Amino acid sequence: MGHRAIIDYPRRELLAVLPSPFHLLTRASARWGRGRRIWCKRDDLTGSLLTGNKVRKLEFIAAEALDAGYSVLVTAGALQSNHCRATAAVAAQLGLRCELILRGEEQELSGNYLLSKMLNADITYVSKATTGDEMTTHLVSAEARWASRGEKALTIPIGGSDETGIWGYISAVEELAVDMARCDLQRTAIVHATGSGGTQAGLNAGVLLHDVPADVISYAVCDDEAYFNEKAQQDWDNLRAKRSDLPTKPIKTQTVDSYIGPGYGRAGSEVFDTLTELAALEGIALDPVYTGKAFHGLIADLEAGTFRSDASDIIFVHTGGVFGIFPHASAVKAALDSE
Ligand SMILES: Cc1ncc(COP(=O)(O)O)c(C=O)c1O
Repeated sequence: MGHRAIIDYPRRELLAVLPSPFHLLTRASARWGRGRRIWCKRDDLTGSLLTGNKVRKLEFIAAEALDAGYSVLVTAGALQSNHCRATAAVAAQLGLRCELILRGEEQELSGNYLLSKMLNADITYVSKATTGDEMTTHLVSAEARWASRGEKALTIPIGGSDETGIWGYISAVEELAVDMARCDLQRTAIVHATGSGGTQAGLNAGVLLHDVPADVISYAVCDDEAYFNEKAQQDWDNLRAKRSDLPTKPIKTQTVDSYIGPGYGRAGSEVFDTLTELAALEGIALDPVYTGKAFHGLIADLEAGTFRSDASDIIFVHTGGVFGIFPHASAVKAALDSE
C-alpha cells in the first residue's frame, strides 16, 4: 500500500458501530467467484435502526447540524427510503425533530416506512412522479415552513450525498485499508450499489486520498453510467472547492448500469433468486432495491467474464437496507418456491 495522506477530517458525531466487520464469503466465493475471493464489508451492521451506509454520512452531517444550532433535520426520498429511516433515527437519538418528504401515499405500515413513523418523523407525502429537482424545491419550502415556526431546519439532500456526506466513505476507506492489510490483500476491486452517488464519490475519493490499490466498481440501481460518473465527480469537486488542502486530481469512477432491471425499487426474479441463495449460503440478507441488485450484477459479470477488474480479491460493501426486503415478501416466497 502506498503513502497515505494525513487528512484533516471535519468533526463527526459518533453514531455508527465502527469499524464494521470484514470477512471472507467462503461458500459464495466457491459458488460464484470463478477463482476469485469475495469478501464482505459488513456496513449492514453499523447499527440497528441506523443500519447501512447512510449513518456513515450522517455522522458528519449531524455534527454540522449540532454545531450550527439546527433543531430539525429535513430530508427526502422514496416511501421505503433507508436514508430517511436512518435520518429519523439520528434525529431521535440526538433530540432533534425530523421531517421526511416521501414519494408515495399514506399506506399500511411496513419496512422503513413503519420505522420512520415509529421514530416520530413528520411525514409529508408527495406524488410518486415527483422529480429530483422538484424534491429539492420541496426541501427548500420545508425549510421556510420551519423557519416561520421559529425552528432552524437543515435540509439534507437525497441520500445524504453531498460534500459533507462524502466524508463518510472517505473515512470508510481508511477502515478498508486496515482490513486489507490484516487479511494480506494487495489489490482489490471494491463493489457496491450506487443510488444517489455519495457512497461512490466517497469510496473513490478515499481510494485516491489514502492511496489504496483498489478499483471501485459501482452498480447503478436507477440512473445511468453518465449520470453517476458526473454526480460523484460533482460531489468531489464541491468538497475540493471548500478544501484547498485536498488534491486537485479528479476521482476515477466506474459505473455499471446494465443491472437496473425494471427500474428503481423494482427487481426481476433473478435478483430474488440470488438474494435467497446468498442468505442460505452465508447467513447474509440483501435487499432487492440496492445490495441485491449490485451483488447480482457482480456475479452475473463474473460468470460472463465482463467484470471490470482483474483483481483476484473482490470486496462487496454491504450497504444495508435489510428493512427493504419486507415489502417484497411475495417475491421472496416465489424465489423460495421455485428452488
Ligand atoms: C442499502 C443501500 N445501499 C446503497 C445505497 C446507495 O448509496 P448512495 O445513495 O450513497 O449512492 C443506498 C441509498 O441510496 C442504500 O439505502
